[in-house]
Amino acid sequence: MEIKIVGVIGCGQMGRGIAEVCARHGYQTTVTDVSQELLDSGIQLIDRSLTVAAKRGKMTEQDKDTTLSRLHHTLNIGDFGDCDLVIEAAVENLEEKKKVFAKLDEVCPSHTVLASNTSCLSVLDMAMSTKRPDHVIGMHFFNPVPVMKLVEIVKTIVSSDETVNTGRSFAETLEKTVILAQDSPGFIVNRLLMPYLLGAVRMLEAGVASKEDIDQGMVLGCNHPMGPLTLLDYIGLDTSYFIACAMYEEFKDPLYAPPILVKKMVAAGHLGRKSGKGFFDYK
Ligand code: 3HC
Repeated sequence: MEIKIVGVIGCGQMGRGIAEVCARHGYQTTVTDVSQELLDSGIQLIDRSLTVAAKRGKMTEQDKDTTLSRLHHTLNIGDFGDCDLVIEAAVENLEEKKKVFAKLDEVCPSHTVLASNTSCLSVLDMAMSTKRPDHVIGMHFFNPVPVMKLVEIVKTIVSSDETVNTGRSFAETLEKTVILAQDSPGFIVNRLLMPYLLGAVRMLEAGVASKEDIDQGMVLGCNHPMGPLTLLDYIGLDTSYFIACAMYEEFKDPLYAPPILVKKMVAAGHLGRKSGKGFFDYK
């Protein structure tokens, strides 16, 4: 199925990155969020990202203007009625996501593919809140979306092959490489990444090394672009804590149990880069 018009639910870090990439690759893209303030701030950040890209010679000023002209925003999910694909990147709360999917199911035509960018929640549960569970998949992008080359396509036990193929072909038009995962918590990447990141926190808690040396070890010893504690700050401690809790809840494997330090940092509002303070300082 050919995708021409894309909808994106959520204009936060992931949603705005997805919307930017879709508009840059020629898709008419409509984005929504729960308040005008969040929507305005998301659109402003997309504008800023495109301005930086133009300044760095990655696109012309004309391309930037054309991209912006393809980007539409609305507070009314009812405006998603002409979308061929909707990618949900709302808050990581299963009940909220199920409500969004049920609403999309009402307003979108029967051919529309509904996808979730969830990092760890059950895509099947979202699918079953619609009357078209075969048209629902996961499409998990990585942060920062304009830079990261990967999309995980998540197939539930009821996703049709046609829907999976549509998601795959679409992601490839965004110049992303696709990997396919079953609908299991954390899919491929977070299932491997989370124990590693949480292990770094446990190492810090145990006093094995300083935060700087833990990070330096993985940057210089394994050529990772960021050390694990810097990456946790980058993802957000609240998001990481949520993912760890959700995966621990499903697997009951201590590898996914959130370390106490992460819980306390979230309670203190030390959420990483977005709050100005996490394991490191960003003020
Ligand atoms: N938007 C657009 N472009 C960006 C960007 C952003 N937010 N951040 C960086 N870039 C671009 C820069 O413009 C630059 O482009 P250029 O080389 O063409 O000029 C390039 O990326 C490199 O940027 P910088 O030189 O500023 O900085 P770095 O070399 O340190 O790279 C990084 C920054 C790309 C973020 C790199 O550190 C990195 O890859 N870190 C790891 C990120 C990662 O692991 N992400 C996955 C997180 S897990 C996830 O998302 C799953 C979820 O479910 C938790």
